[in-house]
Amino acid sequence: MRTLIATAALALAASGAYAQNVDVSAAEGLMKKSGCFKCHSVTAKKDGPSYKSVAEKYKTKPDAVATLTKHITTGPTVKIDGKEEKHEIIKTKDEGEIKNVVAYILSR
Ligand code: HEC
Repeated sequence: MRTLIATAALALAASGAYAQNVDVSAAEGLMKKSGCFKCHSVTAKKDGPSYKSVAEKYKTKPDAVATLTKHITTGPTVKIDGKEEKHEIIKTKDEGEIKNVVAYILSR
């Protein structure tokens, strides 16, 4: 029994540090409300990169959370079809909710 629990804990850890404590439905709900899925999908490239490819790019970077938090809260200028636009900002000021969205993206 003890080994079983230890194995389960290990498997959980191996599935990625960011996957822990992500409230998927809260993240997706807030992102839907914020219009994020208009330009992004989890697996396919649309106007913006897929969240999977964002996760690939940042997963191993130590400043991933800070970089992505800044990206979705400050609205940097991005290029869409060659046109410069302000990137969408997540529609919340709640730090926990923002953290949850960033963890959601990084665990795709
Ligand atoms: C109008 C289209 C559009 C909307 C709406 C949009 N994005 Fe983006 N997003 C983009 C584009 C284009 C890029 C690529 C920017 C680049 O690589 O320069 C991007 C990049 C990103 C990145 C990667 C940043 C990086 O440094 O690589 C993240 C994370 C992201 N978006 C999250 C979100 C979230 C969360 C929302 C909702 C609040 C959102 N996006 C809404 C178009 C959009």
